[in-house]
Amino acid sequence: MKVTVSKAPKNDTRIVFITEKQKNKPKDFEGKKDEVTIRYEHNNKTILYCGLGEPSKCTTRTLKAAAGTCIRKIDSLKRKKVSVIEPKIRRLKDSAGRAIVEGAILGQYSFTQYKKEKPVKVTALELVSDTTTAAEIKDTVRLCEGIYLARDLINGNANEIYPARLAQEARTIAKASKGISCTVLTEKDIEKKGLGLLKAVGQGSPYPPRLVMMNYTGNPKSKERVAIVGKGITFDSGGQNLKPSKHIETMRCDMSGAAAVLGLMKVLGTVKPKVNVMGVVTAAQNAIGSKAYFPGDTHTSYAGKTVEILNTDAEGRLALVDGISYCIKQYKPTEIIDLATLTGSVVAALGETMAGLFSNNDRMAKKLFDSGEKTGERLWRMPIRDEHRDSLKSDIADLRNISKLPKGYAGSMTAAAFLEAFVEDLPWAHIDIAGTAFNESEARGEISKYGTGFGIRLLMDYLKQK
Ligand code: BES
Ligand code: ZN
Ligand code: ZN
Repeated sequence: MKVTVSKAPKNDTRIVFITEKQKNKPKDFEGKKDEVTIRYEHNNKTILYCGLGEPSKCTTRTLKAAAGTCIRKIDSLKRKKVSVIEPKIRRLKDSAGRAIVEGAILGQYSFTQYKKEKPVKVTALELVSDTTTAAEIKDTVRLCEGIYLARDLINGNANEIYPARLAQEARTIAKASKGISCTVLTEKDIEKKGLGLLKAVGQGSPYPPRLVMMNYTGNPKSKERVAIVGKGITFDSGGQNLKPSKHIETMRCDMSGAAAVLGLMKVLGTVKPKVNVMGVVTAAQNAIGSKAYFPGDTHTSYAGKTVEILNTDAEGRLALVDGISYCIKQYKPTEIIDLATLTGSVVAALGETMAGLFSNNDRMAKKLFDSGEKTGERLWRMPIRDEHRDSLKSDIADLRNISKLPKGYAGSMTAAAFLEAFVEDLPWAHIDIAGTAFNESEARGEISKYGTGFGIRLLMDYLKQK
């Protein structure tokens, strides 16, 4: 969809936002939040009126969701061009125009690669605004392009999006931007260098594992470098602890953290903020088969700590910590954020609208939380306590990969405690996106069905404030 900005609407199909308090409302329309009506007016005009509710409660989050819902309505009318009138809302913390464009582009996404007949969609959106400029919109479009990439990678078949394919995507992103470099460890390197946990997780699959490291340097003068590590399990069968039906069908989504890292790097390469960021993808397929790693066995991590594997389905933490340790040792980042579809427990605790946030650093946690509120990719902080750390003590190895607590107890906290054991006192945050990365219900607002690309808007906002 092409986006332009103008002072007066040129298209006959229009989206008009209305608040509850507004005068001159259309007939029989109150402007309540989520209220939508289509009116065919004189001079061949089609106007979609969309309610925003109480203006004092209207935020950029409201506008993004509303724009997402509206664009799908216009698509269903099979219109090709639409003008969107930017509403004037006082005390908005961010640009209304940008929020609308973001919501419309993201809300319009659908995964059509495997459909013979492609749906008809709006191809030109004109934002009608006195205040927003075309230059402001450009970065929003770039942000959305990264999110589209992440969604496509998540939604693609697991037999197409395997570890080497993620590595290839990283190289493509690096090639397209001068500021980004890319290094890939193959299965041979992973074995030789002693990333024993990543190797173990990936060894059951004919699609071998990869460790991908990308470096974006936007501020060469600064010594700071934020490492963003994404879980890239391209399919999580559970391994020998095989997942049952109703749990296994969506597990191509288990590389959503990695997809967000790749999408983010693509955005950094085009928006070019003045920060230094390292993107790490720990890519493996957790397969079942005669070569798969066995429950009960102990494997050695890159950091040297040994881990008793008591459940091969708790594989994400294994792959992640080898990526984290390698990144710390070889690249010395100043802080680490990991994004991972790590636990079913976080879905039970927070549902699909908030991700779990864990951190050993209050300042970082606060900033990430604030970025979540602002962008709409919301977080809720959860604890790591000594009882969680203690539950990972093993009699045979340095750590167990699942806790000793009864089944279902504090699963997200103990998983986070496992990661914490490898971050070496660096400022670190872990974001468990198991509930937010993949939308199994229908599209809502700007959140499309299936892969959501969660984390890119959040981290882009966080990094820009560095
Ligand atoms: N990839 C799953 C977590 C997950 C669940 C992601 C639902 C997306 C939606 C992870 O590898 C896993 O299997 N976790 C187990 C851990 C358990 C064996 C300790 C879980 O959460 O059940
Ligand atoms: Zn698993
Ligand atoms: Zn997993």
